Amino acid sequence: MLFPEGVTIDGLTGAVTPATGRYVKKLSALRDLYERPEQVDAYIAAHGDVDAYDVIEYRPDGSDICFGTTIMYPGRIGREYFLTRGHFHAKTDRGEIYYTQSGEGVLLLHSRSGETRSVAMTPGVCAFIPPEWAHRSVNTGPEKLVFVWMCGIDAGHDYGEVATRGMRDLVVEQDGRPAIVANPKYRV
Ligand code: PA5
Ligand code: NI
Repeated sequence: MLFPEGVTIDGLTGAVTPATGRYVKKLSALRDLYERPEQVDAYIAAHGDVDAYDVIEYRPDGSDICFGTTIMYPGRIGREYFLTRGHFHAKTDRGEIYYTQSGEGVLLLHSRSGETRSVAMTPGVCAFIPPEWAHRSVNTGPEKLVFVWMCGIDAGHDYGEVATRGMRDLVVEQDGRPAIVANPKYRV
């Protein structure tokens, strides 16, 4: 039987108490997602293989829903920023929300049929991610970007398509500000 529980989420650090799991994604694991992977190699040569983001989960066994936080560290790779892998959900009728707690970023999305959208990630904005929209978050600020996510526990992650084709859009620095541009290397 499942029992109710209060879970404390620190909006600045992303700490989840209690948590059921966590993982860390190193920058080297994201190398091939960048338009110029050799710039990742140069970053790692200069700064080491830093943590790009952490994910902390609250996934109660037997529940239909789960939630957690993603803590994205700040950093720049060429004209791009630190970013998550990006994915569709494996279960195609499952959506999600991303509720930004601190920091600033951009949520990039594209649909199976090729529409693109973005949602500004600023504290207080809760982004609605419908089913069948690939989503990637990008930390465009100088501080950590911390957001709470919540989805069906069976949503799953399908990383394959974004890994092979890329996201349709990129967030890049232009004139000192983040701008959204078409990804020149997107594989149609
Ligand atoms: O389920 C989600 O969308 C999030 O928990 C992400 O998995 C998390 O932000 C990390 O991103 P990704 O899974 O694309 O590497
Ligand atoms: Ni998701």
